[in-house]
Amino acid sequence: MTTDSTTTERMTTETMTTGPAVDYFEIIHRHLPPDSPAYRFYLPHVVMVTAEALAVARRLGLDENQLQFIEEAGMLHDIGVVAVLGDQPGLSWRLPYICHGHEGRKILEAEGLPRHALVAERHTGVGITAEQIRQRRLPLPERDLVPDSIEEKIISYADLFFSKSPAKLWRRETVDEIRDELAEFGADQVKVFEDWHKQFGEGE
Ligand SMILES: [Fe+2]
Repeated sequence: MTTDSTTTERMTTETMTTGPAVDYFEIIHRHLPPDSPAYRFYLPHVVMVTAEALAVARRLGLDENQLQFIEEAGMLHDIGVVAVLGDQPGLSWRLPYICHGHEGRKILEAEGLPRHALVAERHTGVGITAEQIRQRRLPLPERDLVPDSIEEKIISYADLFFSKSPAKLWRRETVDEIRDELAEFGADQVKVFEDWHKQFGEGE
């Protein structure tokens, strides 16, 4: 009895002291209400990506602060979809979808989260270079929007396995499917993914 209550007390204290510093649910719900159509794909998607990213981070032996950051930034990485969504229910877009990362950066900076903001801005595909933005005339600022820190790379890597489209929401894509999708944007994109996969994957 004494042992049980001591254990419970310790677990409660640990949970209270090691929980996320950023209340990402409060931020998500303020920008994307749970009764909005987009919430139904946003939440499953970010949960799948965050779980995958945390599994990678644990395999690599990242420390508790890094794990906590990945949890928070993973849950918030796509918050910019609110700025590109159209007025119609479901998946219609007001701004080109590719703007959601940059729009997410603005939202998270305004929330006082500059490091999380960089994850949002840099997470699309394996990142977008200034040269690609120029060449493809993308509606983005002309600078490298490419994952830099290990945490940014892990979240971007995890994101490649999960789609936001309703039909694929709960399915982890295969490595070959990701390679094929990235190949449409050039061999250099596939190479970045393969480098990440060697570093972060489980030898699939
Ligand atoms: Fe995502």
